[in-house]
Amino acid sequence: MKQRPWVMIAGTGHAVPKRVLRNEEFAAMGIDTSDEWIRERTGIRERHIAGPGESLTSLSAEAAHKAMAVAGVTAAELDMIIVGTCSPDRLLPSAAVELQAALGATRAVAFDVDAACSGWLYGMQVAEAMMAAGNAETILVVGAELLSRIVNWKDRNTCVLFGDGAGACVLTRSTKQRGILSCYMRSDGTLANLLHRPKGGAAEPMTAEILAEGSHFVHMKGREVFKNAVRSMSDACDRALDGAKLSSSDIDLLIPHQANLRIIEATAKHANVPREKVFVNVDRYGNTSAASIPIALDEAIAQGRVKDGTIVMFVAFGAGFTWGSMVVRF
Ligand code: COA
Repeated sequence: MKQRPWVMIAGTGHAVPKRVLRNEEFAAMGIDTSDEWIRERTGIRERHIAGPGESLTSLSAEAAHKAMAVAGVTAAELDMIIVGTCSPDRLLPSAAVELQAALGATRAVAFDVDAACSGWLYGMQVAEAMMAAGNAETILVVGAELLSRIVNWKDRNTCVLFGDGAGACVLTRSTKQRGILSCYMRSDGTLANLLHRPKGGAAEPMTAEILAEGSHFVHMKGREVFKNAVRSMSDACDRALDGAKLSSSDIDLLIPHQANLRIIEATAKHANVPREKVFVNVDRYGNTSAASIPIALDEAIAQGRVKDGTIVMFVAFGAGFTWGSMVVRF
């Protein structure tokens, strides 16, 4: 019998920038790559890229408004706003307080969770714990990224992989026996240098030299990240199933972090979840980091793939490394 209160996802929403950048367009931008290379290695065909009038706050607010409308919750009713992001509009203050102001959610306590691509999943687990502790009744959890603003558009190892967007969920208590069944989180900071922004932070503040060499942008050792992602996400699936006392055949839909189709397929194979039960939209959005799972969840719901009683498993992996998983009964 579940001891903690039932915390359910009462509404979801997402927003992406208008501009779609297709693989075929990179060549004209002077980047030595091809649609074939990107599709074969990653499954990505296109991604959305923020324009001058779009910001992390504007996309987050659009996603949040949609999620609140579905949940039937007003901004004034939010007790807490948690934003998972590693690309906030400003380094100070947090993206969450900017979103709070944009929504007019005057009562809410607002803060960010920085766990890179695992940011939304970490935020969900913090929210569940806050509700279990009796600190909040209604929480908005957003995963949002403008990675196009922090990647090096001359580095083909990274710039083809990422996209921009925001996904939002409203969490409330449930009186029925549905909601979050299990949570799992892990980190390993010894591997931080495999995926990071080396300079430009407080340790080595921005200089003309850092700017010129581009060491403030995202740097990644792709192959090592790939191996760690598959290993960690596979293990996280096992842990989430154990925690929920379920087996893989009980899972109706697996929604993994959308980084790369090959990582998704390897994780699903390990978890013994067949392809038709795995949600994939990396082809249309690329890797939107913390936004990827909530965008995918919102699309899955819109497509009728999540209904009352559907059991969904989320699994994430990101820079840090950070990873985790969650099983939810809708
Ligand atoms: N177009 C063409 N060639 C490219 C390229 C691109 N966009 N990006 C890299 N390459 C080249 C490299 O320069 C390298 O060339 P070299 O062998 O001459 O040095 C070669 O492709 C790398 O090939 P390989 O190591 O076989 O690639 P891969 O199969 O590991 O795929 C990634 C590369 C980045 C797609 C893959 O490692 C990956 O997806 N890693 C995980 C990335 C990720 O998801 N990060 C976020 C996690 S949250």
